[in-house]
Amino acid sequence: MRFQSKLPEVGTTIFTVMSRRALEEGALNIGQGFPDYPIDPRLGQSLIEAVAQGRNQYAPMEGLVELREQIARKLKTSYAVEVDPEAEITVTCGGTEALYDAIQAVVGPGDEAIVFDPAYDAYEPAIRLAGARCVRIPLTPPGFRFDWDRVRQCVSHRTRLIIVNSPQNPSCSVAERGDLDALASLVRDRPISILADEVYENVLYDGRRHASVLAHPELRERSFAVFSFGKTLHATGWRVGYCVAPPPLTRELRKVHQFNSFSIAAPLQYAIARYLKQFPDAWTGLSAFFEAKRNLLAGLLRGSGFEPLPAAGTYFLLVDYGALSHSSDVDFADRLIREAKIATIPLSPFYAQAPPMTLLRLCIAKRNETLMAAAERLCAFAARPQVP
Ligand SMILES: Cc1ncc(COP(=O)(O)O)c(C=O)c1O
Repeated sequence: MRFQSKLPEVGTTIFTVMSRRALEEGALNIGQGFPDYPIDPRLGQSLIEAVAQGRNQYAPMEGLVELREQIARKLKTSYAVEVDPEAEITVTCGGTEALYDAIQAVVGPGDEAIVFDPAYDAYEPAIRLAGARCVRIPLTPPGFRFDWDRVRQCVSHRTRLIIVNSPQNPSCSVAERGDLDALASLVRDRPISILADEVYENVLYDGRRHASVLAHPELRERSFAVFSFGKTLHATGWRVGYCVAPPPLTRELRKVHQFNSFSIAAPLQYAIARYLKQFPDAWTGLSAFFEAKRNLLAGLLRGSGFEPLPAAGTYFLLVDYGALSHSSDVDFADRLIREAKIATIPLSPFYAQAPPMTLLRLCIAKRNETLMAAAERLCAFAARPQVP
């Protein structure tokens, strides 16, 4: 049977490719973004209890009310905002489902959605599946800042959605309050929604505070804000996230959600709700935890030839290998897998049209021993006579 692919240009993601190559070559995988250390055993225990107590049937479509209440409390503590758990919070299958649902809810054929490069890879396919066009605007290096004049030029009567991700994967930059003000003035009086991917809300360094759209009254009225317990609780495999949006947007998002995943694994929701009730500040140490890891890895690599770029947030670190080679990042990353037995993620696949660059993304959500072993391999590789 002949059929036409709806996403002909989408192949296997760079994360899957690099992880597969890492397995083939027996390489240490410091590329893909997942912790290699255990979750809090008390969270695991909470899940065991939820299953034993029979919390094994469908959870409500919008999410367990106990969990939504804990989320509302967390948001109040973090951003001093009142969020209605009933009408404004939806529990989703990771942040990924929330992104997909929000996009399907507000963009359709002929519309445009704006995305900033280097961009997380889940945005564009969802926009395309909605029949819309993805307009990609690069963040300006070296700090990966927003160029709001350029954004203004790219906004058209077709623009229905702007996706902002802060702290940003993979650039490790963060949006400031001034960026949110610029965004607000740009969309004022226009029928444009905002999708704020805030899954790294708890990982900002050097005393920075996260500027959430939820704490920006003007933006909040038109925003979907997306969060992930995978990141907050070091449990990426649990696939529990949530979306916060004003009631009219939440209503539309739930129309998609209820026919997409319908509802999220009940025992996981019970486990997280109970855990957050028992340990209400479970997430508050995340910035310090990851800042120590950033400092460890950056300190070990500085001067090696893999030069760390400043990182303001997320659990990644970019390194520039330009002093060692000018080959493309995809080729160089593959060479590192083969010759240094270490898997990283090249940056160019995060762009629609990548500028020339020699950057690799490393994940710091790893045990200190893993980070030290990775640094040792990278430093040993860099110390070898280099073939450019
Ligand atoms: C920027 C960004 N958004 C969304 C997600 C998806 O989060 P989840 O794993 O909860 O689906 C990720 C995961 O890596 C991410 O880096």
